[in-house]
Amino acid sequence: MRLTVVGTGYVGLVTGACLAEMGNDVVCVDVDAAKIERLRQGILPIYEPGLESIVVGNTKEGRLKFATSLKEPATRSALYLIAVGTPPGEDGSADLRYVLAVAKEIGQTISDYCVIVDKSTVPVGTAERVRDAVQHGLDKRRSKISFDVVSNPEFLKEGDAVQDFMRPDRIIIGSDSERAREILRELYVPFMRTHERVIFMGIRDAEMTKYAANAMLATKISFMNEMANLCDRLGVDVENVRTGIGSDARIGYSFIYPGIGYGGSCFPKDVRALIHMASAVDMDPKVLNAVEARNRSQHRVLFEKVKKHFGGDLKNRKLGLWGLAFKPGTDDMREAPSVALLQQLMAAGAEVKAYDPVAMEAARRDLPRAWFESNQLQLVEHQYQAVDAVDGLMLVTEWKPFRHPDFARMKKAMKSPIIFDGRNQYDPHGLRQAGFIYYGIGRQGAV
Ligand SMILES: NC(=O)c1ccc[n+]([C@@H]2O[C@H](COP(=O)([O-])OP(=O)(O)OC[C@H]3O[C@@H](n4cnc5c(N)ncnc54)[C@H](O)[C@@H]3O)[C@@H](O)[C@H]2O)c1
Repeated sequence: MRLTVVGTGYVGLVTGACLAEMGNDVVCVDVDAAKIERLRQGILPIYEPGLESIVVGNTKEGRLKFATSLKEPATRSALYLIAVGTPPGEDGSADLRYVLAVAKEIGQTISDYCVIVDKSTVPVGTAERVRDAVQHGLDKRRSKISFDVVSNPEFLKEGDAVQDFMRPDRIIIGSDSERAREILRELYVPFMRTHERVIFMGIRDAEMTKYAANAMLATKISFMNEMANLCDRLGVDVENVRTGIGSDARIGYSFIYPGIGYGGSCFPKDVRALIHMASAVDMDPKVLNAVEARNRSQHRVLFEKVKKHFGGDLKNRKLGLWGLAFKPGTDDMREAPSVALLQQLMAAGAEVKAYDPVAMEAARRDLPRAWFESNQLQLVEHQYQAVDAVDGLMLVTEWKPFRHPDFARMKKAMKSPIIFDGRNQYDPHGLRQAGFIYYGIGRQGAV
């Protein structure tokens, strides 16, 4: 098939590359001309395992092309996938200006029947607004071309995006058109070699499904964080509780790791957008509000532990920080817990040496310049440089190289061997025996 993907971020680039890999002719469009130029040269704007070889390989084969505007004739196709950002607006609602701008442009350019697919995460009712925007473009040209709008939300996870796209658990297609359903099914057949994965439903149902999925996962995280905080106060080891409840098949082990709160480009904004959607129809979303509130306070938990340990004064305290990305496997720092933690540490006058295996460039680009200029924040080249002569180490992102580090080397290098483990990665008992002071999230180290 010949198709156009609009937006070459985490979702758009992965979608375009994976669909090209399956033999389709894909044009990826982005308004960011510099990004498109680099992509043409095989330089990726994001870190995503396995993506580079697919992009480079398919570009070489001529199945994957790049463009900066839908006005370029090469972008004409029967299938447009919209994958631009839907960032949070001031009031928490999803900002649809990019999605609607693309819809308008599609209406101004199409010359034949086409299917327009909303892949971005968009509030219930957006497909109707996309349809109106496309129609508006067509009306202005007095064109009678027909088209369908389909909701096909994306469920990939950053860090596993290629794998998730290639082997999806399910493919949600919301559509009221038999013709569009057929086209979408054909597009996804190569991704369903073992069994059917498409679930057809109404357009609004599909839009809601994406938000409900992310809100459910965020709820699990906030619930478990609440349990961990309670465990801390009651002298209970949450790690035992986690394995104890995870073994119940109705609960399961996934997404019940306590930590320092969820972050990233999806959960925070999607929970807030859902809260906004509920408020707009006069509903008080009690559970969602609690999930969001717990997460906000969870972003302070590690800082409070550090502060308490040092008697409330962090001025000129030297601390190491491992992990800046919002989770392992990505360089994405949008709403990362590391940023919230750094804000608190900087305000308290602490000095931080930070290291991340892949997010250093993003950190240098996105974190406030003032932090670097005042030398309060230093990015170091190696994980062990971050522990050199520090008063304590904070583990923020559970990257693999941090899972089993050389504790003896760390103990020697650190001024005081204190670990604030924001991801409950280490064994409190073993570390204490090795002479460390250990703080986890709800961890007591009981055997
Ligand atoms: N990142 C994820 O893990 C993930 C997973 C599932 C769903 N989503 C959803 O997918 C959507 C995209 O997310 P993302 O993380 O890929 O965003 P992103 O910010 O990484 O990329 C968006 C891209 O769209 C481009 N863009 C903006 N306006 C444009 C226009 N008019 N024409 C062409 N390009 C334009 C931007 O330049 C940018 O490159 C969001 O709605 C998000 O919620 C994201």
